[in-house]
Amino acid sequence: MSKPIYVLSGPNLNLLGVREPQIYGKETLDDVRKACERRAETLGRTIEFRQSNHEGVLIDWVQEARTAASALVINPAGYGHTSIALLDALKTLEVPVVECHLSNPAARETFRRHTYVSLAATGVVSGFGVASYELAVEAAARLSA
Ligand code: DQA
Repeated sequence: MSKPIYVLSGPNLNLLGVREPQIYGKETLDDVRKACERRAETLGRTIEFRQSNHEGVLIDWVQEARTAASALVINPAGYGHTSIALLDALKTLEVPVVECHLSNPAARETFRRHTYVSLAATGVVSGFGVASYELAVEAAARLSA
């Protein structure tokens, strides 16, 4: 049995469904979790799904993933644009890293066009709403055993 795919979400994503639904959609984070679990199950894999508003907590989970995960999916949310510390943590991983975003940051404000996390990502899935997470889980599963 493979190790789980860690699926981490950053700040404000706990408010999915009520936060700017015209951008992020009406589905809640629990809907996202269920969609990821279903997709993982069809691929014969499991996930460890977590969200935090705290940079240090996310970094602790990335460090945990070094030994506990087969791959990592991360929606770093706002920290993607600001956190060198999160980038440094991700760079310590030897497993595949898939960055995902519900929206397409490249088509939004200019400050969203740069994402530190992308420097440590094997690939990025953006702009497909909840499906971004599902596709990211699928990519992570394909890239790992
Ligand atoms: C986001 C995009 C980020 O720019 C933003 O700060 C978020 C969510 C997304 O999923 O589209 O919080 O990562």
